[in-house]
Amino acid sequence: MERPRRLRLRPSMRRLVREISLEPRHLVWPLFVHRGADPEPIASMPGQLRHSLDSLMTAAAEAVHLQLGGIMVFGVLPQEEKNATGSGAYAEDGLVQEAIRRIKAEHPDLLVMADTCLCEYTDHGHCGIVHEGTVDNDATLELLAKTAVSQARAGADVIAPSAMMDGQVAAIRAALDDAGFAGTPVLSYAVKYASAFYGPFRDAADSAPAFGDRSSYQMDPAGGYWDALREAEIDDREGADMLMVKPALPYLDVLPLLKQRFHKPLAAYHVSGEYAMVKAAALNGWIDERRVVLESLVALRRAGAQFVLTYFAPDAARWLLEG
Ligand code: PBG
Repeated sequence: MERPRRLRLRPSMRRLVREISLEPRHLVWPLFVHRGADPEPIASMPGQLRHSLDSLMTAAAEAVHLQLGGIMVFGVLPQEEKNATGSGAYAEDGLVQEAIRRIKAEHPDLLVMADTCLCEYTDHGHCGIVHEGTVDNDATLELLAKTAVSQARAGADVIAPSAMMDGQVAAIRAALDDAGFAGTPVLSYAVKYASAFYGPFRDAADSAPAFGDRSSYQMDPAGGYWDALREAEIDDREGADMLMVKPALPYLDVLPLLKQRFHKPLAAYHVSGEYAMVKAAALNGWIDERRVVLESLVALRRAGAQFVLTYFAPDAARWLLEG
C-alpha cells in the first residue's frame, strides 16, 4: 500500500523531504515614518508604529539584527504639507528621502526599498495628478520618475513603483538611467488589485482617496488571468527587475501563474488588512498567531514568492531564528 505517512513519522524524516524554506532574508518589513518627535501607534495595525525619525533608526537596527531581507519606507505627511501634485513625494529634502539618507548612513548594508507613489502626498489621496475628476496617467509619469530619482539619490537600493499608471516602469527606468542610477533595480507592483485589504494602511498613512476609489487604475479582483499576465508582461518588457503581486493570500493563485512565465524574482505583499485580521483574531485568543503567520508565509513561498513584504517580518524572523 502507498503510505505517505512513512515520510511523516519522524521529525528527521520530515526535515529531509521538506521542500520549502523560509528564512529571515525572505522577509521585507514595511515601515511608516512621520515628522512627529514620538512614534505613534496605528489603531488598526496593533504592534506597528508611525515612526519618528529616531524610532525608525531603532527599527532599522532591529531589521539588521534579525537579518531581514530589507525594509520599505513609507512617509506620512500632515494634511497641510500635501498638495494637488504631491510634491512632498519628490522633494530632495522630503521625509522619505531624509529617512533613507539617515538609515543608509548608519546601515549601509541594509537593503532599503522605496515605495514610489503619490497617494501619501496628494491632498486628494489619489496616486497621480487629477484632471477633471480622473487621474491623468501621462502627466503623472513625470512626477513618479522624479520621485524615483530623488529616492535613488537619497540612497534607496530598490525603487518600487506602486501607482499603477501605465508606462510607469519604463518612465522610471529611463529617468534612473539618465540620472546615473542604471544599477538601481526596479521592483514593480506589477499585479496590484483594487483591494479592500489596504484599509488599515490608508489609516496608517492617511492616504484614503478623498473622492471615488482606485478602480480606474488598480486591477479588478474579478478580472481574469489575462489581466494579471498582461500587467506582468508589460512591466517585464518595460524593464522591471522583479515583479510583485499584491495583496498576497487572496491572490495566491496568481503567483504560480507568473512564476512559470517570467524569469525574474517574484514578490508578494502581505498587506495591512491581512496583518490586521491575524492580529485581531490572535488578540482575542482565537488563533495561534505564530503558527498562523509562519504557515501563511510558507504558503507564499510555496506559491512562488522569492520574498514577502510583511508587517510580521520582525516577529516571524525572531520565531525562525529561535527555531
Ligand atoms: C501606495 C501603496 C499602498 C499600499 C502600498 N503602497 C496603498 C494603496 O494602494 O492604496 C498598501 C499596503 C498595505 O495595505 O499594506 N499606493
